[in-house]
Parts: sequence; structure tokens; C-alpha cells
Amino acid sequence: MIKLICTKNKEEMGRYVADRIERLIKRKPDAVLGLPTGTTPIVVYNELASRFGAGRLDFSRVKTFNLDEYCGIDENDTDSYRHFMMEHLFSKVNIRPENIHFPDADAIDLEKECARYDGAIAAAGGLDLLLLGIGHNGHIGFNEPQSEFVVGTHKVRLSDSTIAANARLFASPSDVPRRAVTMGIGSMMNAAKIIVMSSGADKSEILYQAFHGSVKPGLPASILQLHDHCTVVGDPDAMRCFRESGMPVEYVENENCFGGE
Ligand code: GLP
Repeated sequence: MIKLICTKNKEEMGRYVADRIERLIKRKPDAVLGLPTGTTPIVVYNELASRFGAGRLDFSRVKTFNLDEYCGIDENDTDSYRHFMMEHLFSKVNIRPENIHFPDADAIDLEKECARYDGAIAAAGGLDLLLLGIGHNGHIGFNEPQSEFVVGTHKVRLSDSTIAANARLFASPSDVPRRAVTMGIGSMMNAAKIIVMSSGADKSEILYQAFHGSVKPGLPASILQLHDHCTVVGDPDAMRCFRESGMPVEYVENENCFGGE
């Protein structure tokens, strides 16, 4: 079942998602999280770091599996997704290095590495909670629009639109890697719970299409319609199409944010 939540603003979205994670970790201190990169989850990571600083959260037994990593970028490079996660979350909380997992996108035997990553997720008991952002073309992780859903961790060729969108994070567009390794749809759909986060008007249309139209590999996020416990949370701009469509949207702290609505 899909639950649609509209928060007052982006920061409130961060607090909503951090609340869900805090409740999970309190109930299950060895929780297994699937985590995305991108600008959208930064508000969540900031909130988690500040709650850890306030003594509200303990990550000492938490395990994390990141969704993806670029090929051809050293993990210590500032452009790597590992570096992003260290900067925004892992260096700020007490997670153990051995509990942090990424696919090795430059493994010599990539097929073996992808199988290892899927095996490690399964051996951890699967993901208790998967956080996702969404790309402008509907990608999740780096599962790009294509002719079929790919179940396992795999190598992808990034689409031109994804390369263009991610160029803002690199010194020059030509620095953006053309390939990456991503968790597949299988481990994602096996997660006990999923939260899709989105902020900003530019994501409203694709988000709506993903959860309103038909399920198809050309719009990878649409597969999430088939998940039993998937929440879509966004700020008013990102949730605009849902709000205007008449789909049932739950408002969090709506008394302050929608004026006359
Ligand atoms: C990248 C990541 C995705 C992320 C997407 C959107 O392509 N691989 O996991 O969801 O960017 O990022 P942003 O949140 O910056 O819009």
C-alpha cells in the first residue's frame, strides 16, 4: 500500500524521515538501512546527526547498505558516494566502519562483486528500511529506465539526463562517470519498508507518474506501487501533482503551511 505524506517544507520532511528511523532503531538497535545519496536526503542525515549529538540515537549496531557507487572513482575521492556518506552522516555518528556497505564498483570480477553485495544484504536479513530519492527520469538508485527491471546488483550505463543532472556536483560535466553499480530492484522490493523522499517542484510530475500510472521498467520507480509498505513523503512543491489529483494525501503540520487550503 502506498501512503502519501506532504510535509510543511523540506526540513520537516527530514524530521519526518528521521522520526521513522529513530523509532526503528529504538525498536531494533541492529536495524539494517538502505541509504541513498543525492541532495534530497541531506536534510535527513543532518537531522540524524543532530539527534545522535543530542544522545537520542545509537548507531553502534546499525548496518547500512548504500544504493550505488560510481565506476572509475576512488572511494576516497571527494566525488565518490562513499565520501558523500562519510561527510554527511557516517563521520558524525557512531556507526562502525565494518557495518557500512557499498558495492565495489571497480571490482575486477564485477559479476562476483554484485553477487557478493546481494548476498551481504540477504545475510544481514534484508533491509528493514530503504530510503530512496527519485531521479528526474524516474530512476531509483541508479536503476535507469530500460526495457526490463533488473533484480540483482548490476553495472549500469548512466543516461544522458542523469549525467547532466549530476554534473552540478562535479567540477566539470566531463568528470561525471558514465557508469555505476547499483542495487537492483530485488533487494529494494524485499525491504520491509520503503520511504521515497522528494523536494522541489521539478520532481512533482515524475513522482506522480511513478505512483499513478502503469508499472513499467521505462519508469523504474513505478515498481514501488507493488510494495506493501511504501511511503512517499515530500514538500508541498514535490507533492503538488498528488495534491491536485485528488489522491489521498496526509498533511503533516499542515496548519502552518498551506495558507487558505
Ligand atoms: C542520483 C542517485 C539517486 C538519487 C538521485 C536524485 O542519481 N543515484 O539515488 O535519488 O541522484 O538526486 P537528488 O536527490 O540530488 O535529486
